[in-house]
Amino acid sequence: MNLLPGHPGSCWLSTAPRTTYPPVEGSLHAETIIVGGGIVGLTTALRLCEAGASVIVVEALRIGGQVTGRSTAKITTQHALIYRHLIETRGRELAQSYADANRSGAARIKEWIRQYDIGCDLESRPAYAYTSSPARRADIAAEAEAARELGLEAEAIDKAPLPFETAGALLFPDQAQFNPASYLAGLARAVVERGGQVFENSRAVLIDEASRWRVVTDGGHTLHAEHVVIATNMTVKSPVGMANRTQPRSHVAMAFRTDGPDMVDGMFIGIDDPTRSLRMGRDAKGPLLVALGPKFNTGQDGNVAARFQELEQWVRQRFPVRDVVWRWCNEDYDTADRVAFAGTPDPEKAAGFHIATGFNAWGISNGTAAGMMIADLVSAKSNPWVTLYDPARPYPKDFHKNADSQSILDDVEDIAPGQGGVLVQGDEKVAVWRDDAGRLHAVSATCTHKGCTVTWNNADRTWDCPCHGSIFAADGSVIHGPARKPLASVSL
Ligand code: FES
Repeated sequence: MNLLPGHPGSCWLSTAPRTTYPPVEGSLHAETIIVGGGIVGLTTALRLCEAGASVIVVEALRIGGQVTGRSTAKITTQHALIYRHLIETRGRELAQSYADANRSGAARIKEWIRQYDIGCDLESRPAYAYTSSPARRADIAAEAEAARELGLEAEAIDKAPLPFETAGALLFPDQAQFNPASYLAGLARAVVERGGQVFENSRAVLIDEASRWRVVTDGGHTLHAEHVVIATNMTVKSPVGMANRTQPRSHVAMAFRTDGPDMVDGMFIGIDDPTRSLRMGRDAKGPLLVALGPKFNTGQDGNVAARFQELEQWVRQRFPVRDVVWRWCNEDYDTADRVAFAGTPDPEKAAGFHIATGFNAWGISNGTAAGMMIADLVSAKSNPWVTLYDPARPYPKDFHKNADSQSILDDVEDIAPGQGGVLVQGDEKVAVWRDDAGRLHAVSATCTHKGCTVTWNNADRTWDCPCHGSIFAADGSVIHGPARKPLASVSL
């Protein structure tokens, strides 16, 4: 039985305008097809539409409902501690490029919200990265100095403005927060107003190149273009494999009802283990405290529900919150050097093919910068961030951990209501879960991406792949790629 409190789903989606774009019908063409209606895809689309280009966006599900809509939506150049790390590992020039790209991304979001009058609860807030360990004060001071060297306003302070003890914090003033799902609905509207086309419930199941790029949707309809942008969080196709360059990981997030004034004034990220993140948000009924737990490798945690319980306990010990109203898992991909992969992976062999992935949980500003850059690449304009995000740059071969080591259950009787597991039936692995009424449901346990064995997420009630982060609904349908096809039906 799933006893977790709160509605499954992100608080941002609950108040965002509901989009109703049609699915793709027939055969269409445009200069650029963008696969994925998240922050990268819609940023790319709007930049191109503003330049007068023809654009089609195809979203597998609903605009704003996927990874961006499940983020904590901080519009900030403060990404925990990163600038000292980048200067030391990739050099001053690339660290400067990272700062510039993210500063531009953050500014672009605010400018578009103003220009297109997008109602998305944009609020100016300071960002804090805090520690509870006196031993880490030096790290914070070094980060503040590194950020200032790169032209960012940053200050090391003695403690964070939080109602529990901290030993120091990095302050970036004048950052911002918003509702990311409402923002994406506004971007989609602006794309259409500027002559672009947006389609929902149209999953790209085939992407290939003939004389031009071709995308075939699950409805059997075909799109053609000179350029294709794969903006699906993890790329569903790429001439340079992205799966082994990235590590899929998730966080649990909860939104608690609060009374009275804001419980936190700012956006907070802890730099100690286990990391936690805090900010205020709101839904239709009022303010919420939004908290995020530490990350875990997607599909590699046997008890995601316990992570929600631990996060709720941590919050209740520190804040006088009321009920848990919303809870969700968010997902992203880490990279070894903590910088996203975005751009044109192979301009010679796959000209006109562009990707973006691996945002290391800082996809709001990085994703916007990546979208801006890809729009420049499509338009054959130079862009200063091409080297920073180079998707074909070298990577350590041991970074990605496949961890395809699903334990096998002996008997369906071992599965309690709300729980799931993998059984062997003949020569096939079967993913089985039991609903609250005691009924069993089964699909193939073999991920349709590259054949790893999926694991049960007992909080979201999804089948998650430990290899490259595909997420399937309990009935096997695809929620999140790189898989494009559902888990096969199986009879027990
Ligand atoms: Fe790659 Fe499942 S996501 S094998």
